[in-house]
Amino acid sequence: MKRTLGVCYYPEHWPREIWDEDAARMAAVGLTWVRIGEFAWKRIEPQPDVLDWTWLDDAIEVLGAAGLKVVLGTPTATPPRWVLNRHPDMLAVDAEGRPRKFGSRRHYCFSHQGYRAECRRIVTLMADRYGRNQHVAAWQTDNEYGCHETVISYSDAAGAAFRDWLAQRYQSVDALNRAWGNAFWSMDYDSFDEIDLPNLTVTEPNPAHALDFRRFSSDQVASFNRAQVEILHARTDAPLAHNYMGREIGFDHFRVGADLDIASWDSYPLGFLEDRVGADAETQRLYARQGDPDFQAFHHDLYRAVGRGRWWVMEQQPGPVNWAPHNPAPLPGMVRLWSWEAFAHGAEAVCYFRWRQAPFAQEQMHSGLLRPDSSDAPAIDEACQVAREIAAAPELAPVRAPVALIFDFDAAWAWQVQPHGQGLSYFELVFEHYRALRRQGLSIDIVAPEADIEGYRVVLAPGVMHMPDEMKSRLARSDAQVLIGPRSAARDASFSIPVPLPPAWPGLDVTVARVETLRPDLPVTLAGGGHAVRYLETLEGTAEPVLTTAAGAPVAMRSGAVTYMGGWGDDTALDRLVADLAARAGIETRKMLSGVRVRETGTERFWFNYGPDPVETPVGRLEPAGMLRERLVT
Ligand code: GAL
Repeated sequence: MKRTLGVCYYPEHWPREIWDEDAARMAAVGLTWVRIGEFAWKRIEPQPDVLDWTWLDDAIEVLGAAGLKVVLGTPTATPPRWVLNRHPDMLAVDAEGRPRKFGSRRHYCFSHQGYRAECRRIVTLMADRYGRNQHVAAWQTDNEYGCHETVISYSDAAGAAFRDWLAQRYQSVDALNRAWGNAFWSMDYDSFDEIDLPNLTVTEPNPAHALDFRRFSSDQVASFNRAQVEILHARTDAPLAHNYMGREIGFDHFRVGADLDIASWDSYPLGFLEDRVGADAETQRLYARQGDPDFQAFHHDLYRAVGRGRWWVMEQQPGPVNWAPHNPAPLPGMVRLWSWEAFAHGAEAVCYFRWRQAPFAQEQMHSGLLRPDSSDAPAIDEACQVAREIAAAPELAPVRAPVALIFDFDAAWAWQVQPHGQGLSYFELVFEHYRALRRQGLSIDIVAPEADIEGYRVVLAPGVMHMPDEMKSRLARSDAQVLIGPRSAARDASFSIPVPLPPAWPGLDVTVARVETLRPDLPVTLAGGGHAVRYLETLEGTAEPVLTTAAGAPVAMRSGAVTYMGGWGDDTALDRLVADLAARAGIETRKMLSGVRVRETGTERFWFNYGPDPVETPVGRLEPAGMLRERLVT
């Protein structure tokens, strides 16, 4: 597969006179793709049913004539003001019951039927017009579902749709009462009509109610997207993508991805480092100009799974952004490193956001490949360099990694609904396992809970709160070394504690007898090194203890190829666990110096240095922000 580059462009922001030159310069950089249109509804349809295609026809023609391929976005993330005039109740409503107003973007409720109809209408019009356009070679639906906390809405429309969803799921209100345990606190309902959304309750709502609302909200995103996909697929053969976000767990990306042809995501390493990685202050200082060494890779691996192998970076940070608490410039070389890291993880395309920095509105301090005055910004040289390098590079040879790490969005909601202690997050738990694997120099595939795990030598499923029996037996049957826990299989499908007690694993005599959560200043020391932090279980049973507390209580226990971890391990504990599993599976590990990471494809091993100092590697000296390619003997 050929690797390609692209850029995000807003012709509607610039005078017509400069489009031709813009297109010529993009082609000269060596770009292939230009994504346009995703916020342009008001320019396409200035008034209800009054359409102006001329500028968009023209922009597509200009770009196509320069040899560029267009990714056309459906503009449904930014409904114009007149759409709101038509549907005054289409706004999403926050947990306090306040509508989220017009004046930025994503101001819609996924459940509003009137808004859905407007979306179907505008997408149909666009698909009819451009579905067979020779220059439109891919489509993007909407923009960043969930960004700005927009999955959940407590609107009337959401309430009505939720009641329908519950009626479908449970069929009878008695079944719902039983599943939720509504005998508790006299919460039984006599009809589905009585069920409200789980906000503004006096104290916490029933967690089963809250979890079902999260599941419902996720399904609304998937069906909203599916409506666009059906329209587009009927009118174009070009592949369809959506651009996901980093650390966005509001909806099940595997569900949305199943309807699309390509997954893509928007990678802002420096913004994310402060905004959503969750790293401590020292790590943030150390990597302020490079980004977290694992965060991008984690999402590359996650979205590769969501795209069933086909994935892109739709937006790549090119310089300082405008939205994080601090917005430093990247070290020279980082834009190249980020681009190559995506390719090493199998990306088909990396598109920079954005072509020219906007001198107006919310993102005027967000850099692009060009300055607002059209001169080159620093990142353009790196984009040119990457374009030359990929033209000379061998084609990408994807490969299955030896390790699979399961990511389950349903578990992420379950941990949020009842964390049982401050700061307990499923995303962080999985991410910390991912980091530990990378510190051992391993390449990882992140996989869906339903994925076929045949052929993997190590499979990790930490924190998957609800594990259907089918999943348990799939994992138990596999030849891999399997790590489960903490909290894996801890609840049934309706968020109750199952009896026999968790994990109730075939062939593994371990029972979680009690759980406690730990203050940050009260870690529990493990014999042989490391600590249990945040969360600890009391384990009973005859399985072999493989980690114990200093006082001798089992923390991890094993039978055959299955290891149950009954606590949240710190870095040292996770390093021990992961190294042990790899050794048992016969996988070679390679301890990484801090900030250095590797990723293997079928033919090459890529080395990246996120750290501030040069390091020696087996294949030579690796400068800060540097990348080395090692040919693998095959
Ligand atoms: C993304 C978004 C873009 C732009 C960018 C700025 O999240 O999709 O439209 O806002 O952030 O960094």
